[in-house]
Amino acid sequence: MRILSGIQPSGKLHLGNYFGMMKPALDLQARGETFYFIADLHALTTVSDPAQLRANSRDVALDFLACGLDPDKTVFFRQSAVPEVCELTWYLSCVTTLGLLERCHSYKDKIDKGITPTHALFAYPVLMAADILLYQAHQVPVGKDQKQHLEVTRDLAIRFNAAFGEVFTVPEPFIQAAVAVVPGLDGQKMSKSYGNTIELFGEEKAVRKRIQSIVTDSTPLEAPKDPDRCTVFALYSLFADAAERQALADRYRAGGMGYGEAKKALFEIFWERFAPYRKRRAELAADPGYVEAVLTRGAARARLEARRTLDQVRRLTGVEPMRP
Ligand code: TRP
Repeated sequence: MRILSGIQPSGKLHLGNYFGMMKPALDLQARGETFYFIADLHALTTVSDPAQLRANSRDVALDFLACGLDPDKTVFFRQSAVPEVCELTWYLSCVTTLGLLERCHSYKDKIDKGITPTHALFAYPVLMAADILLYQAHQVPVGKDQKQHLEVTRDLAIRFNAAFGEVFTVPEPFIQAAVAVVPGLDGQKMSKSYGNTIELFGEEKAVRKRIQSIVTDSTPLEAPKDPDRCTVFALYSLFADAAERQALADRYRAGGMGYGEAKKALFEIFWERFAPYRKRRAELAADPGYVEAVLTRGAARARLEARRTLDQVRRLTGVEPMRP
């Protein structure tokens, strides 16, 4: 079984990225052949500073490697290192009706947020379909917000197969329902565009400050509190085991504990659980060639697969094959 996913290097990764996509994806390394990539071409729809794009891509690579991406198990690469994906986007575009793209929420959400409505932003789901179909992926672990893009991908695979011949595997989304929504500082979904995130590898002081600023209700310190309606508790639960979660829930219900103390507990568990990743990240970052070497090796492997699919697509569509 081939499992594939991508992440945009459009800013610092946060707890929402970690629990929504990274952790499930990293856990899947034990369950199949994994292909994970840094979607730098997609990030170009929103990042226009070249130095920023480069730095973000490297940071995302370091974050994944630090959190347990094993380059001997996972084919890990930059999307742009396999230019075949752009060619496949064209063939897929030829079976993509405008109506299909017009129905995509993510495009509408982005232009509502003030992002310039370019052709690339509109065609974003076609490039994403190419990412998935190029490598014949069976399963795609993504956050809930990407579900519709997966439906577009399936739709394009089925249409193309019907029009030209069976070439693409029709992929299944793999969505972790329980952790699909990680709340941010204000209790809304944690998202870079809401400015309510807690960075994965932020500085200690900054992370403490972010956690202190989580919005809570005004129940007085002495009064009993409802853990199930508290963002601090929801975030704590993501790190805690069952016994730790129960212990903190009991303290909420007993009264006498203020939210400040719960926030302290959240900071400590996060800081402690991530200590090994933080250490590893610092070690990897100190070796300047390491990340590049991993990504280069991944790209070579990914490209073999890409060429195989693209050769078939050219043959089926009547486009002349590539001569070496
Ligand atoms: N659109 C995805 C996101 O923003 C990133 C992505 C790009 C992706 N290509 C992909 C995810 C292919 C899964 C498969 O989260």
